[in-house]
Amino acid sequence: MQKVVLRNGVEMPSIIMGTSVDDRKGSRKKLIGKMSEAVSFAVQNGLVGFDTSRDYSNEDVLGKVFSSLIRSGSIKREDIFITTKVGNGQQREKNMLKQIDMSLKALKLDYIDLWLLHWPLPDYYIDNWKQLCEIYKSGKVRAIGIANARERHIKEIKKITPDLLPHVVQIEYHPFRTVPAMRELCTEKNIRIEAYSANCVMLPFVKENDVLNILAEKYGKTVTQIMMRWHVQQGTIPIFSSLNQKHILENINIFDFNIDDDDMKLIFALNRDYKFHPESLNCPGY
Ligand SMILES: NC(=O)c1ccc[n+]([C@@H]2O[C@H](COP(=O)([O-])OP(=O)(O)OC[C@H]3O[C@@H](n4cnc5c(N)ncnc54)[C@H](OP(=O)(O)O)[C@@H]3O)[C@@H](O)[C@H]2O)c1
Repeated sequence: MQKVVLRNGVEMPSIIMGTSVDDRKGSRKKLIGKMSEAVSFAVQNGLVGFDTSRDYSNEDVLGKVFSSLIRSGSIKREDIFITTKVGNGQQREKNMLKQIDMSLKALKLDYIDLWLLHWPLPDYYIDNWKQLCEIYKSGKVRAIGIANARERHIKEIKKITPDLLPHVVQIEYHPFRTVPAMRELCTEKNIRIEAYSANCVMLPFVKENDVLNILAEKYGKTVTQIMMRWHVQQGTIPIFSSLNQKHILENINIFDFNIDDDDMKLIFALNRDYKFHPESLNCPGY
């Protein structure tokens, strides 16, 4: 898997697979089982980056999957890249050391590759960010960042820890939400954007979009492959999720073609500030 290099020199896979499951789609137990199988399948097919969070309530399940893959010799610890996050409930406890130790224990790991605050929780995220910085310096995590941040949060963090800005911001980002101001700020500060809902959840309007379908036909690829390639080519790191083996293979097999500059611009022009995930009640107006 192709890598990108974060500001601190840490190499991160250029594509990440998400592990949250949507309980509205069936029994949680069955979905978690399918997600575990999808993760094993992805590892066996060369995908090495995974995204979880304490709030996904699956760190322990993933811990078992990864430790079994490592024990069986399918993968080495140093070859996988694990991201987890601190949820708002845990941020309210104001003890980040406790949280990292809980995540490490559940994931059965000695270190986390990327650790994020899940939200810029008002009244809490700045103090907790300072703690993340100390834990990063201690070596328990290789890179740190924040999810769901806006420009103003990055500017606030810069006032507090000017020498240690997030290495990564994880935000909803896809052809229909390209957040130009945030992109500009991240480029200026050398902060890597990680794009969740990278395929805009493959909503019907996405599947049917004329520009994406015309480009899919032009390059002999699928609509999803066009979006994944668009991310990787501009240097954002897409996070997709899928419980379907055919889709997983499709989403990672995007390294044998190049989208022309003019076509990249056509995809950027699809932006309409569409956001699939609603604003958090915990972070009004975040
Ligand atoms: N930080 C945050 O607040 C936050 C918020 C949301 C998500 N995330 C992270 O981002 C991850 C991905 O988010 P997401 O689930 O919204 O991403 P997504 O990949 O845009 O959407 C997933 C949906 O797309 C479908 N899909 C994926 N590949 C496909 C393909 N090749 N063809 C057709 N359909 C395809 C999946 O169905 P199938 O299973 O049928 O393939 C699933 O219904 C999450 O798991 C989580 O780790 C983070």
